[in-house]
Amino acid sequence: MSRLVVISNRVSKWKQGGAQGGLAVALNSALRQNNGLWFGWSGQRVETFTGHLDIEEHGGVRTATIDLDEQDVDEYYNGFANRTLWPLFHYRIDLAEYERSFGEGYERVNNRFADTVLPLIEPGDAVWVHDYHLIPLGYRLRKLGCNNKVGFFLHTPWPPTRLLVALPYHQRLVESLFAYDVVGFQTEEWLESFRHYCEKELGANIDGETISYGDLTLKAIACPIGLDHTEFLAASQSEDADKAHDKMRASLQDRKLIVGVDRLDYSKGLEERFNGLERFFTDNPEQQREVVMVQIAPPSRGEVESYQEIRAALDAQTGRINGAFAHVDWTPIRYANRGYPRVELAGIYRAAKAALVTPLRDGMNLVAKEFVVAQDPEDPGVLILSRFAGASLQLTEALLVNPYSAEELSDAISTALAMPLEERQRRWRAMMDVMEKTDVIWWREKFTQYLR
Ligand code: ADP
Ligand code: G6P
Repeated sequence: MSRLVVISNRVSKWKQGGAQGGLAVALNSALRQNNGLWFGWSGQRVETFTGHLDIEEHGGVRTATIDLDEQDVDEYYNGFANRTLWPLFHYRIDLAEYERSFGEGYERVNNRFADTVLPLIEPGDAVWVHDYHLIPLGYRLRKLGCNNKVGFFLHTPWPPTRLLVALPYHQRLVESLFAYDVVGFQTEEWLESFRHYCEKELGANIDGETISYGDLTLKAIACPIGLDHTEFLAASQSEDADKAHDKMRASLQDRKLIVGVDRLDYSKGLEERFNGLERFFTDNPEQQREVVMVQIAPPSRGEVESYQEIRAALDAQTGRINGAFAHVDWTPIRYANRGYPRVELAGIYRAAKAALVTPLRDGMNLVAKEFVVAQDPEDPGVLILSRFAGASLQLTEALLVNPYSAEELSDAISTALAMPLEERQRRWRAMMDVMEKTDVIWWREKFTQYLR
C-alpha cells in the first residue's frame, strides 16, 4: 500500500506527553497504524529560518519537523492563522484582524512548508494537508510539479459566504483549494457553506460531489473525524484512570461532579457556560453545596490578545462566582489552567454525572466523544452538548442546548442530574453505536479512499 504523508501546522510527538487539540490527538492515532510520515512545524522558533529538517520516530510514526523564525510565527501563526482565519471561521468577525503582513507571512510559510516537504514525497504517496493554517500549500506543491494525489481536510467550521467575503483576498484563498483532489469538512453544514461560496462567488459548476472551476475540479465531501475508540476505551479502563477517578471522587465528598475540558479559547463558550452555572445555583439554591463544576482549561495561543483577554475575563468571572456562592467547605467552580495525561482525563470524565461541552461554534469537538466513551455503561453520565458543535449532528442523543442561553444551560443541568438510569443508559448506548462505527480509522479510510 502506498504511504500516507500528513502535513499539519504542528506535529505532536507522543514522547512530549498529551497533545491538546483535536487535530493532533486524531492524527497521532490515524498515523500510528499506517506507517506514514507527518510533516510540520516543531513549535520551536529560531532567529533565521534554515529549512533544516529534524526527522524522528515516535511510537511507529515518522515525524519530520522544521523550526520557524520569529517573523514567521508572528505573521503566519499568531497573525493570519489565529488573528484572521480562526475568529472568522468561528463566526467572530468582531475579533478578526487583518494586516497585509499577515497575508504575506501566511503565503511565505506555506511556500516554505511545500518547498521543504516536497523532497520527502515519493511517487505514489498520498498527501493529506490539514487545517486552516495550510490552505494554499497544495497550490504551491502543484507549482513545484507535485502530481501525487493531494487532499485537504478542514478541522474547523467553514463560515457562511456573507462572513467569508469580509476577508480581503477571500477569492484567492478559496481558489487555491482547487489545487487539491479532495477537500473534506467535518459536517454537511460546513460543506454546504463551501458549496454555496463556490457557486455564488466563483460561479463554479457543481455536479454531485464534484465542483468544477475553469479547468480545475475537486471533490468536496463531509467526513466527520472520530476518536481512536479502542485507544481511549483502553485508557479509560486502565489502572491510572481508576486512580484518577478515585482521587477525584474522594475530593468531592459525595457531591455531584460536572466536568468541562477545553483549550482556553473564546470559541468554547466558557463565559456563557459559567453564566449558565451561576443561573443554576441561583435558581436551585438547594443544589448549592451539592454540585461541583471542574473546568480544565489549558491556556492556548497566549501571544494573541483576544486569548489574553478571554483568560483575564475567565479569571475574574470564576473568582466572582466562587466569591459569591462559596462556603468554607464548598467551592462551586474548580478552575485549572493545565494539561492532564489522557488517562487521567478519562478517569475524571468517568467520575462526572454530566459534562458541559458548550462551544459557541466548533468544527467537531472531540471532548464530547471522549466523555461518552469514558463512561461506566452501568451508570453513565449525561452529555450536555452545544447544538453549534459539529459533534451535535452525530451525538443527537446528548442533551442539546443553545450555549448562549443561561436558562437553557441551567435547565439542562437540572435535567441531567435528575435523569433516570434507564434513560441515561439508552442515550449513552445510542451515542456509543454511532462512535463505534465512525472512529478515527473509519475517518482516515473514508478520506484516503476518496483521495486514492
Ligand atoms: P480543539 O481541537 O478545538 O481543542 P477538541 O475538543 O476537538 O477541541 O479537541 C481537544 C483535544 O485536546 C481533546 O482530545 C482533549 O482531550 C485534549 N485536551 C483538552 N484539554 C486538555 C487538557 N487540559 N489536558 C490534556 N488534554 C486536553
Ligand atoms: C484546533 C485546530 C488545530 C490546532 C488545535 C490546537 O483543534 O483545529 O489545528 O492544532 O486547535 O491549537 P494550536 O494553536 O495550539 O495548535
